[in-house]
Amino acid sequence: AFDVVCATSGVRVSVPPGRTILEIVREAGVPALSSCEEGVCGTCETRVIEGTPEHRDFLLTDEERAAGEVMMICCSRSRDPELVLDL
Ligand code: FES
Repeated sequence: AFDVVCATSGVRVSVPPGRTILEIVREAGVPALSSCEEGVCGTCETRVIEGTPEHRDFLLTDEERAAGEVMMICCSRSRDPELVLDL
């Protein structure tokens, strides 16, 4: 599990294995857009303020993955114990 801090909403959630960031933040009442929920459309792209994403989408370029400034929250996870997102 890892924690996600939603900087705009002021909400902190824990994302367990087998659940997505998208599902968990929505359950906490944080609005988040999505469409495909499979990492191919880009609708859920979210800015990363702190922490290193573990990218599992099929959309970002290698450069964008390495930069780690955005992530697809419908499928990607965290390499760090905590991610701070612009949500
Ligand atoms: Fe399509 Fe996340 S909802 S990439």
